[in-house]
Amino acid sequence: MKIAVIGGDGTGPEVTAEAIKVLAAVAKTDGFDFELTDYDFGGDRYLKTGEILPDGAVDELRQYDAIYLGAVGHPDVEPGILEKGLLLELRFQLDQYINLRPVKLYQGVETPLADKGPEDIDFVVVRENTEDLYCGVGGFLKKGTADEVATQAAVYTRKGCERCIRWAFEFTRKRNNPDGKLLTLVAKTNVLTYGHDLWWRTFQDVAKEYPDVKPDYNHVDACCMWMVKNPEYYDVIVTTNMFGDIITDLGAMIQGGMGVAAGGNINPDPGGTSMFEPMGGSAPKYTGQGVINPIAAIGAMAMLLEQTGQEAAGQRVLDAIQVVTGTKMESQAAGKMGCSTSEVGDLVVESLKT
Ligand code: IPM
Ligand code: MN
Repeated sequence: MKIAVIGGDGTGPEVTAEAIKVLAAVAKTDGFDFELTDYDFGGDRYLKTGEILPDGAVDELRQYDAIYLGAVGHPDVEPGILEKGLLLELRFQLDQYINLRPVKLYQGVETPLADKGPEDIDFVVVRENTEDLYCGVGGFLKKGTADEVATQAAVYTRKGCERCIRWAFEFTRKRNNPDGKLLTLVAKTNVLTYGHDLWWRTFQDVAKEYPDVKPDYNHVDACCMWMVKNPEYYDVIVTTNMFGDIITDLGAMIQGGMGVAAGGNINPDPGGTSMFEPMGGSAPKYTGQGVINPIAAIGAMAMLLEQTGQEAAGQRVLDAIQVVTGTKMESQAAGKMGCSTSEVGDLVVESLKT
């Protein structure tokens, strides 16, 4: 397995190191080889060279089986530059049209939801990752004047929503929830009567091909309510890019915070290159202190394994993570874990069952 590694900014490289430590251990137990290639993309390189992704970089990254990304975001770089120039650029150029976000409360992890436990908080959000308000379609008129006009258009295509919805149905079928396979479309059909009407009609059409999956619908505002009140209701959610961005931060909080939440930017097509990352940012104030939580980063590595044909290895890592969160860590907050960043990585390695 050939993996491109972008450690990135701030604490990104520290948590990436722990994920790689776990990868090396599980490669032994599961008997596969891997090869890592480091890329120094991120804020420091940008400040030195003015370049975010050099010419040819995307085509080079395309050659890998997967990309592992630590974090981007640098205190001396204006917000938006690295996010757009690196993260969104790779999502678009590599056509990673699925953003996969498991919302799972691991054993021993505290949730702000009263009376909810790991059996209640265990669902997956499938977010469309290439369209919607993220396309950058829009502009200004009379900028800087009292008559200024700004537009920002949401772009939805039949192809774009259909491939995402179909993948979500397949995923729900495979996930095989013992309580019944339920796929909830989250949108806002009562107001976005063009774009989300296209999503709604496409969802109804594709649902006919999956009679074993129950199709379901929530408006996005109601979904936020249910995620807090009855998270156990959900199995898989499929949603648009912008709403997916928002509800997955809510999801990250109910699963115990940015220290544990992981995600994948997936191009599921043959030969497609996917990218996996912890959800938390670069947390620059914690850089170099060994206090940042690497659980999300290790979870992102588990997802990478699952999506690149090493399902058993991915599951083994997830099980080990839960041993560590359930019995070894005091908290998931940076600096309060009861152990250092690298000790958490060691504990996960020790907890891998053979
Ligand atoms: C995410 C992030 C990105 C997004 C930002 C950094 C552009 O919030 O992965 O959810 O909005 O998609
Ligand atoms: Mn986000």
